[in-house]
Amino acid sequence: MSGRTWNSAVRHYAPAAERNRGPILEVLRRLVPDGARVLEVASGTGQHAAFFAAGLPATRWQPSEGDPSALASIAAWAESEGASNVCAPVVVDAASPDWPVGVFDVVYCSNLIHIAPWACTLGLLRGAQRHLSPGGLLVLYGPFRVDGRHTSESNVAFDRGLRAQDPRWGVRDLREVEEIAAERELSFREKVAMPANNLVVVFERGGDGAA
Ligand SMILES: C[S@@+](CC[C@H](N)C(=O)[O-])C[C@H]1O[C@@H](n2cnc3c(N)ncnc32)[C@H](O)[C@@H]1O
Repeated sequence: MSGRTWNSAVRHYAPAAERNRGPILEVLRRLVPDGARVLEVASGTGQHAAFFAAGLPATRWQPSEGDPSALASIAAWAESEGASNVCAPVVVDAASPDWPVGVFDVVYCSNLIHIAPWACTLGLLRGAQRHLSPGGLLVLYGPFRVDGRHTSESNVAFDRGLRAQDPRWGVRDLREVEEIAAERELSFREKVAMPANNLVVVFERGGDGAA
């Protein structure tokens, strides 16, 4: 993750996660019901898992990461923040057709799909279809293009930088994500404008939900 530094031997620290966690929690408080089982995909440092679980104490928060070396930091943040409703982190590769987890009421994922190949978005949407209960929510946070256009000049530059790093990366178009989501029985429910030209995007699992 860009901007990652260290503040202890185990806990990784990302300044961006510190900045955006408050506004995201405000939205999650409205969306996530008490008693919800939440799967976080791509937990990164674990700062979000510890903070959101502490802010939503009636939830059960399952952090996960594609990078096994991140798990120690995620666990350390949960422990240091005293968030007792955080489960031990597990390895989940969002792009994989096989996630070693159960059924959830919410799948939450921030700042992944633009920093990964498109196959990761496809895998994330498939995984949400498999693992969400009926009426469950997929909550995405990050930058998106809307109707084919960037929402700010800074996102244009950000997108250019991402694609220079890896041509498979880039800020995704919300309509393209919505189209694939619809094929996965995930209906677009709302988008919420967030600071720094980011969005929270919410999809709802229709159909029979996860088995
Ligand atoms: C920019 S960080 C975001 C971390 C955290 N969600 C946040 O917002 O602070 C992106 C994270 O995605 C993880 N990641 C990349 N590809 C992944 C995949 N296919 N499955 C799960 N995690 C992945 C990386 O290891 C990294 O920790």
